[in-house]
Amino acid sequence: MSSPISSWRLDAANTTVCVLTGKHVPELHYFGPALGAEITAEELRQLSDDSVLHASLDEPTALSLCPQASLGHAGSPGLAAHRNGKRFAHRLQHVHTEHKANSLSFQLADASAGIEMHLTLKLDELTSILTINTAVVNRGEDDLTVDWLASATLPLPEDHTELLSQHGRWGGEFSEYRRALHPGLTDISNRHGRTSHEHAPWVMTGPQGFGDQHGEVLCSHIAWSGNASLRIERMNDGHASVQLGVLPLPGELILAPGERFEAPPVIAARGTGINAISHQLHTHVRQHILPPWTRTPRPIHSNSWEAVYFDHSTEKLFGLIDACAELGAERFVLDDGWFGRRRNDTAGLGDWFVDPEVYPDGLQPVVDRVRQHGMQFGLWFEPEMVNPDSALYEQHPEWVLRLDGIDTPLARSQLVLDLSIPEVRRYLFDCITRLVHEYAIDYIKWDMNRDLVLAGNGEQARALAQPPALYQLLEQIRASCPTLEIESCSSGGARVDMGILKHTGRVWTSDNIDPIERAQIQAGFLRIYPPEIMGAHVGHKAAHLTGRETSLHTRAIMALQGQYGFEIDARRLDATERSALAHYTAMYRKHREWLSRSVYYRLDGQHDSLVASMQVADDARIALLTVVAVTAHPHSRPGRIKLAGLDATVHYRVALESLNRAEIAVFSRQLPHWLNDVDRATDTGPLISGELLMKTGLPLPVLPPQSALLVSCHAR
Ligand code: GLA
Repeated sequence: MSSPISSWRLDAANTTVCVLTGKHVPELHYFGPALGAEITAEELRQLSDDSVLHASLDEPTALSLCPQASLGHAGSPGLAAHRNGKRFAHRLQHVHTEHKANSLSFQLADASAGIEMHLTLKLDELTSILTINTAVVNRGEDDLTVDWLASATLPLPEDHTELLSQHGRWGGEFSEYRRALHPGLTDISNRHGRTSHEHAPWVMTGPQGFGDQHGEVLCSHIAWSGNASLRIERMNDGHASVQLGVLPLPGELILAPGERFEAPPVIAARGTGINAISHQLHTHVRQHILPPWTRTPRPIHSNSWEAVYFDHSTEKLFGLIDACAELGAERFVLDDGWFGRRRNDTAGLGDWFVDPEVYPDGLQPVVDRVRQHGMQFGLWFEPEMVNPDSALYEQHPEWVLRLDGIDTPLARSQLVLDLSIPEVRRYLFDCITRLVHEYAIDYIKWDMNRDLVLAGNGEQARALAQPPALYQLLEQIRASCPTLEIESCSSGGARVDMGILKHTGRVWTSDNIDPIERAQIQAGFLRIYPPEIMGAHVGHKAAHLTGRETSLHTRAIMALQGQYGFEIDARRLDATERSALAHYTAMYRKHREWLSRSVYYRLDGQHDSLVASMQVADDARIALLTVVAVTAHPHSRPGRIKLAGLDATVHYRVALESLNRAEIAVFSRQLPHWLNDVDRATDTGPLISGELLMKTGLPLPVLPPQSALLVSCHAR
């Protein structure tokens, strides 16, 4: 039976959480701007909405942290479970609360249904991020089939009428879409078996037109690298909610008596404007998610893929390694093509042994060449995969995910290994750690290039078991190779989420290195994840995925937004290109330390033809402004751009850092005053107050399509 209503508070720097207990399942009564300390729990309790409506159930139906169909909730429930078709509903009651300094844990139970649930809400005092964990235990005597379990159900404020989410494709990740939240269910379901290019694992809601700097925004993210459902629902009783949970395949989530299922956590942020959400999430990811190596200066990469693809002749590689070292690379990554039978992308995956035909002396000569230049050595793997044309598949066809009686469609000529089989993990662990130890490998590019289709063990679905098995394998490898760094790549950015980032500390953002396309891709990535883990390479003049030709300045400026590197045939650069690139490489070295703690601002308010953002040091003493002209501007004069994040009380020396003033100058008869005045060498650029830069803005020159500007502001 219901106990007396109590209220519980959690407080952080700028946020208060209030939960009411007593009516079945606890309700998240308030998750908003910090409330005064003098506000009592009793006052909050008085504002609980107990109204009972005509033509409805006779009991009030507030939206709880786990809405129950048995109480008449006609929207998506928090839990849908049954026992072989029986006991199709349950009535969870609040049993116990544990209140610690910054967390609340609730135990709920339905003894007759044999279901126990544990809900924990943790509010981070510094960042104000709310983390929600949910677990279900089968206390019955037979199997409990869980069709759906929300990791979290969060009520939406009444004025949250717009939804922002990201979707994409290979080579076009992280595109933003907005839609109005009309009555009914918006269900963003990812069934790709990996995080996917198609749907990012988070959603943001806010009032209509919420922007980078305005509107109360709520962002909810599920820390999970597999199938998931994001459900946003508006009901006619005024309730609106966002729900996030794993999406089991039919019959996949069956709990044996006594078994417990821990749902992946939901990470929720609220604040004014999307930039505030980005700041909180970047800090959270830096402090609570990423491995520790990400806090050391991020080395400059040089990746072999677009330079040589599968053509791994030692002569070519030596030339490439020498040229990359000359460019200033600090880590050389040997991409796909080094292992058994891997002369193209139809064979060899699974055979993680150096190909003796291509490398008769093993990888040592290549590794030595890399080390002679003082560079680190990185190697590409795609451990979760196997080609049918491989020794591994010949020996262990039973190791692949499959459903007996139906052929699994191939993708890039490959199948997926069932990582939940301990022998598979053991095999991969042995292959990878042996090579890491043999060659003192510093870094692995861990790729994953296909969706899971028919992901079963022959009979039962196994998609849900893949992400935890992968996390476990990564943990074991890291424990055995403590200094090894690992990147998450999945045909570019198809596996970016706060689950995988606990085990990997860098992302290959996209296979698309065209800087104009990258402007949108990187802006999308940076909404949620910090810049220092965003792999960003200077590519070829004609981008391999789009054929578009761009200037070296635009390519380098975009690469400087993230963990800078090269994906270019460095042997073929001429002297002018090499010297321009040397300038940007030196800039990365100079600024990377503060950039890895920087605060990111997307600058809205311009025409869509311009993508602009700033990275500001945490003490606001230095900032870099990036503006990319993705197309032509509709006006002859682009106008002023208002900067953000600066100290209004300080004067800044404003300087153009990109070496393309001459290229841009020809498009105007006269450049804006501040651009004419500036001379980086003598440090005599104009001194302008932070207040004016933010309130009046910096006038932009005419930017020809596909050009970019990099501007620094140094506090004086
Ligand atoms: C994927 C990755 C690329 C490259 C290739 C190698 O497409 O995203 O960066 O490593 O695989 O096959």
